[in-house]
Amino acid sequence: LASTEVDLAPIEPGMAITVTWQGKPVFVRRRTEQEIRQARSVDLAALRDPQRDEARVYEPAWLIVIGICTHLGCIPLGNKPSEPRGDWGGWFCPCHGSHYDTSGRVRKGPAPENLYLPPYRLAGDGTVEIG
Ligand code: FES
Repeated sequence: LASTEVDLAPIEPGMAITVTWQGKPVFVRRRTEQEIRQARSVDLAALRDPQRDEARVYEPAWLIVIGICTHLGCIPLGNKPSEPRGDWGGWFCPCHGSHYDTSGRVRKGPAPENLYLPPYRLAGDGTVEIG
């Protein structure tokens, strides 16, 4: 299948799941109000790969990124409650210590770029079509 459809209803605020799209892990995260505020109150000049949060999401609550570290391709941790989310509350790549924030932007460690965004469409019926 070229695209992957995901039911968003079971994902509670603060939770994230991993789905597979074209053989790649994709993280689907429902952000809390606080996580959205954190993502939006960042000084862009402090970012290695400066991108506004508003340019990375269609709806503030839903952050959807390709779950592959932009350093050397490991899968960052942070989707399971037992996993570390790094110093900025997003994801932590255990391979060489890259930290991503609640917008999936790299904040620390060797990753050169933010987590990539897959093409996707939020359907009105509570699903998302990735791809
Ligand atoms: Fe993620 Fe190196 S692969 S920090």
